[in-house]
Amino acid sequence: MEIVRMEAAHIPQIAALERLCFSEPWSERSLLEETENPAAYFIVAVEDGAVRGYAGMHTVLGESYVDNIAVFPAYRGRGIGRALTQALIDRARAVDGAFITLEVRASNRAAIALYTALGFEKVGVRPNFYMAPREDAALFTLRF
Ligand SMILES: CC(C)(COP(=O)(O)OP(=O)(O)OC[C@H]1O[C@@H](n2cnc3c(N)ncnc32)[C@H](O)[C@@H]1OP(=O)(O)O)[C@@H](O)C(=O)NCCC(=O)NCCS
Repeated sequence: MEIVRMEAAHIPQIAALERLCFSEPWSERSLLEETENPAAYFIVAVEDGAVRGYAGMHTVLGESYVDNIAVFPAYRGRGIGRALTQALIDRARAVDGAFITLEVRASNRAAIALYTALGFEKVGVRPNFYMAPREDAALFTLRF
């Protein structure tokens, strides 16, 4: 498995992963725009020529905001999510960053366990942040 920058060729598989994981998935067009966005850092875990997972964030003035992290169900529990999240952290820190932050569904135990294991701390709650189904977001931040 290797982690590479997202390219146009990865996007159909990433859009399929988005539809599989999220009720409001990113479109292929939105993903493609990020390949041209200098503030964006989108990465892909690739194995045997196929996308296993992906992650993306935006950084503005040293503040990094994670958009999404997802791994195909058949490849979960093998360290791919951890490797992707660590790569985002490394990048966020390397740009003289102040912090990296993200929102996660309050019931998403796997993701919360991952973020906590990597040093993120819960700093707040955004009530009713998510739709379909409606749910609070927990806000997690790692300060550098
Ligand atoms: C969250 C997600 C990205 C984790 O990816 P993954 O490749 O399975 O994660 P890893 O194998 O790297 O696991 C890393 C750590 O996460 C935690 N974790 C992962 N899956 C877990 C589960 N099912 N239950 C509890 N903890 C879990 C553990 O702390 C694990 O460390 P360990 O293996 O030392 O116990 C994956 O479950 C996923 O794609 N979920 C659907 C999309 C999603 O919810 N994304 C987050 C949106 S904010």
